[in-house]
Amino acid sequence: MRFDLLTIFPDIFSSYINESILKLAQQNQHIKINVHNIRDYSKERHHKTDDVPYGGGPGMVMTVQPIYDCLKAVPRLPRSRVIMLDPGGTEYTQITAKKYSEQYEQIILLCGRYEGFDERVYNFVDERVSIGKYVLSGGELAALIIVETVSRLLPGVLGDDTSSQDETFSGNLNYVEYPQYTRPEHFITTDQKTLSVPPILLSGNHAQIKQWRKDNQKKI
Ligand code: 6GU
Repeated sequence: MRFDLLTIFPDIFSSYINESILKLAQQNQHIKINVHNIRDYSKERHHKTDDVPYGGGPGMVMTVQPIYDCLKAVPRLPRSRVIMLDPGGTEYTQITAKKYSEQYEQIILLCGRYEGFDERVYNFVDERVSIGKYVLSGGELAALIIVETVSRLLPGVLGDDTSSQDETFSGNLNYVEYPQYTRPEHFITTDQKTLSVPPILLSGNHAQIKQWRKDNQKKI
């Protein structure tokens, strides 16, 4: 999967995408992440990317030209999708992530800032996506969420053992759905409370452990 992230704050991404699973997924060439600075494409003085709204009102609006030129500069693979991160878009779920991971080979994510985009930018995107019913200062965090949720669904990105039958129901969430414990068997807090591992997990009785995990399933 190739991801292209369009933003006026390209530095936001580097630390997150260069750790842990996303770092490994890039190293193993399961994914490629390209960050494009919209500001570089502005033909205005001082590489301006926003302006005051026609008709007046508060805030600034992201202008069409730099976004249009930045989008045009992104090399396109045959199965690609342009997604605008937009609090007014369709709500993103695990189902969406699964669909993206299966249907596309390139996901182009357009991150907005300020009070929003010039309405004409909507002509250049395939889809508008929101990650939930709250307002972020920009689309960058939402874009990272899409990169991560799609990446971990790609074959080979997670270790093989995580896709075992223990893991989940509604469309392969790769989520461990029962309570887990590791050493020590007893953890003692400073006020002398003892927090113990359920004895059944130490019993070695695999049928009973399986039943216990089923009885204690977490809901997602
Ligand atoms: Cl995609 N963008 C912004 N700015 N806020 C959001 C969002 C996106 N999704 C939820 N809130």
